Amino acid sequence: MNDGAPPDLQALGITKRFGPLTALKDVDFRLQSGQFHALLGENGAGKSTLVKCIMGYYHPDEGNILLDQQPVTIRNPRDAQTFGIGMVYQQFTLIPNMTVLENLAISKAKLNLIINWQEEESQLTQFMEKMPFKVPLSARVGSLAAGEKQKVEILKQLALQNRILILDEPTSVLTPQEAKEVLGHLRAMTLARQLSILIITHKLREVAAFADEVTVLRKGQFVGSGLASELKISQIAEMMVGSEVTAKPKQRTVLSKKVPKLVLQDIRVKDDIGVEVVRGLHLTIHEGEIVGVAGVSGNGQRELVEVLAGQRQAVAGTIRVQDQPFQPTREKIMRHKMFCLPEEPLQNTCVGRMTVSENLAFRNFDVVPHAIGGWLISRSALRRSAFGLIERYNIKPPHPDIPIQSLSGGNVQRAVLARELSAEVEILIIANPCFGLDFLAMEEIRLQIVAARNRGTAVLLVSEDLDEILELSDRTVVMFNGRLVYETTSPGADLAIIGRHMTGHAT
Ligand SMILES: Nc1ncnc2c1ncn2[C@@H]1O[C@H](COP(=O)(O)OP(=O)(O)OP(=O)(O)O)[C@@H](O)[C@H]1O
Ligand SMILES: [Mg+2]
Repeated sequence: MNDGAPPDLQALGITKRFGPLTALKDVDFRLQSGQFHALLGENGAGKSTLVKCIMGYYHPDEGNILLDQQPVTIRNPRDAQTFGIGMVYQQFTLIPNMTVLENLAISKAKLNLIINWQEEESQLTQFMEKMPFKVPLSARVGSLAAGEKQKVEILKQLALQNRILILDEPTSVLTPQEAKEVLGHLRAMTLARQLSILIITHKLREVAAFADEVTVLRKGQFVGSGLASELKISQIAEMMVGSEVTAKPKQRTVLSKKVPKLVLQDIRVKDDIGVEVVRGLHLTIHEGEIVGVAGVSGNGQRELVEVLAGQRQAVAGTIRVQDQPFQPTREKIMRHKMFCLPEEPLQNTCVGRMTVSENLAFRNFDVVPHAIGGWLISRSALRRSAFGLIERYNIKPPHPDIPIQSLSGGNVQRAVLARELSAEVEILIIANPCFGLDFLAMEEIRLQIVAARNRGTAVLLVSEDLDEILELSDRTVVMFNGRLVYETTSPGADLAIIGRHMTGHAT
């Protein structure tokens, strides 16, 4: 480490068991100094578990971690920090009620104990000036969109002067442009040997563009590694799943009548600090139609979804559902069979320590056959329904009785989708549904969304992934600065025009 380059990191023979489940079996992994290394594998393959073993968050049952060929004991993530290893987790770790500055300062304070706020502010301001991606230091983290929070998570690790950065699906919440920008910057830092990067991602195109080397895990075991430049995307995909992969075309039925199901008129919404972020939005979605809302995160999409989910109140405007005035309360939402899949489902719509089967039943635990006489909840009926959903949506591992927080990130997402799509749905509100899913799961989920549309569901799809919007939706609208500024039919849409509207450079 004396030349200032990041240390060489090795994990040798790592085995990690959770009760009867072997999450990792004799896995070897090496991150060389200054490398940009991608760790790949299906949902549940063991990627997060491996990096958590490196971070000292989990203790492997067998195996060793070596830094510059010397065995080291990393007891916990703070220990990892003293070795210069930092991690951006799949879930956010920032404190929402604090500002960016406060979040960055307290993470350092754990090392220094006392905070000199003035000094921190000037130091962090200087630090931020050197960073090519910026987030205002005075912003309250809770008011930031997912993409911006993710940038803060990365900035936090860089401010701590870590030399090895582990990123667990950092770009799931970034727009393609943001991802390119952030990864490009990190890539430049690895080329300058200031950093080594270990990145977990499901986006194989990113791998091809940024990684030097890839390592693939399947079902807890090492399957192979190689230079990114020498592997084709199809070869990597095959290593991940062990067989050939093809995307199925999505069949669309055409409904003859155009019946409006969800009508939004002049909707205005304020964010947490009272700024109007949805500024007079008009939109009609018809039966059997998917409308995709494209846009850069932070243009009011999140607040719009929160209003429709009954988690935030609009300050003005009217919502009509099936030609009836509509107030989004739990009771009305249930009655009108309106369903919502928000971002970050584990935090927003699950209770982590409750079981998979309980979480799957949140929608309908109080109705027959789950409840007898309206209150006595039948556990066996809950488990039976859970088994059905676990099988249909391929949730792994297939155990209804374990806490949902012990599922891998992608499997939590599948469980929430299973719950929300399983009942009869009239209106479906979805935000970034494929966040963190591997490509097979993503295909399954996209098929389910189109299938719901074919059954007549009106779908509002908010996504930062333009490819996803164009693939799934019938109509694309662009949200910019709190309004819908452009509309086009999705087949044959002009990407360049959409892009210009997304960034407000249309004229
Ligand atoms: N704390 C835990 N308790 C019990 N089982 C766990 C725990 N953490 C992970 N597992 C199990 O270990 C296996 C590997 O999970 P892991 O989170 O490492 O997968 P992953 O490759 O990161 O998947 P994803 O792409 O979905 O994030 C899964 O079967 C998961 O259910
Ligand atoms: Mg994971």
